Amino acid sequence: MKLGRLNHVGVAVPDIDAAIAFYREVMGASDITTPFDLPEQGVRVCFVNTPDAHDGPGTQIELLSPLSEASPVTGFLAKNPAGGQHHLCYEVPDIAKARAEFEAMGKRVLGPTRIGAHGTPIFFVHPKDMLGQLTEIMETPTEAH
Ligand code: CO
Repeated sequence: MKLGRLNHVGVAVPDIDAAIAFYREVMGASDITTPFDLPEQGVRVCFVNTPDAHDGPGTQIELLSPLSEASPVTGFLAKNPAGGQHHLCYEVPDIAKARAEFEAMGKRVLGPTRIGAHGTPIFFVHPKDMLGQLTEIMETPTEAH
């Protein structure tokens, strides 16, 4: 495994429109994508783009709100009603190779490799095997965002 770029930090929020207003008004964000539903993941998602010092794509904040009671974010918000930091996402060049490497290290990969919010393959690794941090691994997007 070779550490890749931090693509985004996932933040669970109870109200995505209120969270967007927060990032605009409090944090001065000027580049926020339009929210869209990701039914396979049970979430509504948008991305707050942060600037990057090296003229590359900046790390994003992924705002996640639950689409239904069955959403994986619903349980998180039950424990953290105001919302909170949910996962970290790192880029890798080859998702199948990365998955095999995590599995070879005995890390618990959660569910199948699937298409994530950026339209590229992703998987999640169990927080108990990752210093308490739910970790998303995503294949590097071919174009920024
Ligand atoms: Co994510």
